[in-house]
Amino acid sequence: MLGAGTVGREVVRAFLDRGDALRSADGAILELAGVAVRDVAKSVRGGIPEALLTDAPAHLVADPDVDIVVEVMGGDEPARTLMHGALSTGKSVVTANKHVLAHHGLDLETTARRTGAALRFEAAVGGGTPVLGALALDLAANRIDAVRGIVNGTTNFILTAMSAEGRAYSDVLADAQRAGYAEADPRGDVEGEDAANKLAVLARQAFGQWLDVRTITRAPELVAGGHGPLGITGVTIEDITAAAAQGLAIKLIATASRDGDTVLAGVLPTAVAFDTPLGRTDGVLNRIEVDGEPVGRVAFAGPGAGGPATSSAVLGDLIAIARGVGSTWAGHPSVPRLLRASRPVSSETFEGPSGLRYPVLR
Ligand code: NAP
Ligand code: HSE
Repeated sequence: MLGAGTVGREVVRAFLDRGDALRSADGAILELAGVAVRDVAKSVRGGIPEALLTDAPAHLVADPDVDIVVEVMGGDEPARTLMHGALSTGKSVVTANKHVLAHHGLDLETTARRTGAALRFEAAVGGGTPVLGALALDLAANRIDAVRGIVNGTTNFILTAMSAEGRAYSDVLADAQRAGYAEADPRGDVEGEDAANKLAVLARQAFGQWLDVRTITRAPELVAGGHGPLGITGVTIEDITAAAAQGLAIKLIATASRDGDTVLAGVLPTAVAFDTPLGRTDGVLNRIEVDGEPVGRVAFAGPGAGGPATSSAVLGDLIAIARGVGSTWAGHPSVPRLLRASRPVSSETFEGPSGLRYPVLR
């Protein structure tokens, strides 16, 4: 294991408390070979046995006794190099790291396909809510036309508390950090970068193509023209109150839909009708809706962040690899080049007192 923070410590706890339940198809028990962290003493104080710990992640990955690498350290480097190194030598990888997937997913997928290693990443989208596996496997017979939803628990938690309790944005962000929902740098949450990373991963599963994540729009339009602050950073209590008077809740909505050969993709604060399932999705919950042909609309909802919920997806991926299930794309091919996304167009908008123009979703 690489990392034993909010998510990793829950995975370690599962090995220590109920390791008997973690078995491969032939009944062999999965063994935790080691846990790499930056500060070994801190993790010992947190209850992880010292014998398991190291501050040398590259050595752990290279250990010939290690078959599977679980990356829950986060960030870009060294996570990318460590995962790439493991896959290059045929070791399977489980990761929760949507940043690395969104920025280097095509390269990691190509490497895994070349060596036959499995790459699994269910925890990267929706926390404990399974959606990626279902897209590739259970919905494999469908042409997916669109995915949309609430994919960032921190911002939904903040917007819900601002709306229900009239609390200041900075107060609520501190609560989300204490609960373990926010990224190490919470700007990634509130500026929509985390949701855009997740949308790129969702698009790969839905449309069989990695999007250039830098082309996913995150800046809402201004009534006066041009674009406002990224993600939810320009949303005010006054906007939330004015929207509520019209039966609308402000949510950070990620959308991607096919438009001929291109994909329209954005992560924008959106005014969502209260009387819809997305409008009623509150707190840290995520909800992802998928439009497919012939299935119609299918929705996935559940806890989108937090250590215990996310460890469910990480451990599920570990068991899947031990059982020989393969990668999260489940044989669903992908086009070997990045696709630039275009900005989605909205037919109806709501103008907030702040001067932000919100797309409306009914
Ligand atoms: P975290 O609490 O910050 O934990 C990170 C862990 O990785 C810590 O144990 C840290 O060690 C270790 N680490 C970081 N850089 C390292 C390095 N260079 N060498 C060795 N160890 C290193 O992060 P987290 O919230 O668990 O998130 C982990 C990953 O899961 C991220 O990619 C995140 O986006 C993703 N994720 C998180 C959630 C969530 O709800 N938190 C949900 C889904 C996905 P020290 O403690 O010693 O510094
Ligand atoms: N920071 C992320 C969120 C963690 O709030 O959704 C789960 O991916």
